[in-house]
Amino acid sequence: MPEIDGVKAPGHLISIEGGEGAGKTTLVQSLAERLRAENCEILAVREPGSTQLGEGLRDLILEHSSPPLTADTELALMFCARQRLLQESCLSALQGGQVVLYDRYLDSSYAYQVCAGGADEDLMQQLMQAMQIPLPDMTLLLDLSPQQGRERHGRTEGTKDSFESRSEEFLQRVRRGFLLRAEQYPERIQVLDASQSFDEVLQQALRHCRSLLNL
Ligand code: TYD
Repeated sequence: MPEIDGVKAPGHLISIEGGEGAGKTTLVQSLAERLRAENCEILAVREPGSTQLGEGLRDLILEHSSPPLTADTELALMFCARQRLLQESCLSALQGGQVVLYDRYLDSSYAYQVCAGGADEDLMQQLMQAMQIPLPDMTLLLDLSPQQGRERHGRTEGTKDSFESRSEEFLQRVRRGFLLRAEQYPERIQVLDASQSFDEVLQQALRHCRSLLNL
């Protein structure tokens, strides 16, 4: 149960994290479908996005800006989109007892902007506190090597937007960032081996969700 304004909300905030090509988006869709069939009320969202501000920022951040945005700027923008989405729909869903399933959330900011991009970790802490961003109840981290991620994506380096054209080295730092976070929050973050078959990953994810939600 996440804390909102110092009060525990009855809903649950679950985030799905991982590098590109790890299968997050498909997993969020399948989890939402399966949990709805078990009578859970689910709100599925993606970050950055799911609001006009968030989708606008997604387009803006994904464009190749010249000079490139600094990691601190990207971090601040991600938090603006995050707070907006919470205010627009997720907080009231959590207060109403729903399960909010995030396709990327806080740990992506840590892995991409702080760990891989070099943004200030204290800035992230300050943004979290100032914007009152709740921690997830549970995070499923789909761990996959950047090479396998790219193969799954079916794209080669340098062909897509500013995120997907990032170097192998950057993506290794992203992966390390996620795994570091899993070491820091072993209770909250469940690491799933995303090189397994999708069905295997889905079954493991469902087991974790059912245990959290007492289904
Ligand atoms: P997404 O479309 O989910 O990536 P993919 O489907 O390729 O895995 O997300 C777009 C990009 O946003 C992704 O490269 C990671 C980035 N991102 C951050 O850098 N910081 C953040 O806080 C979030 C939420 C996303």
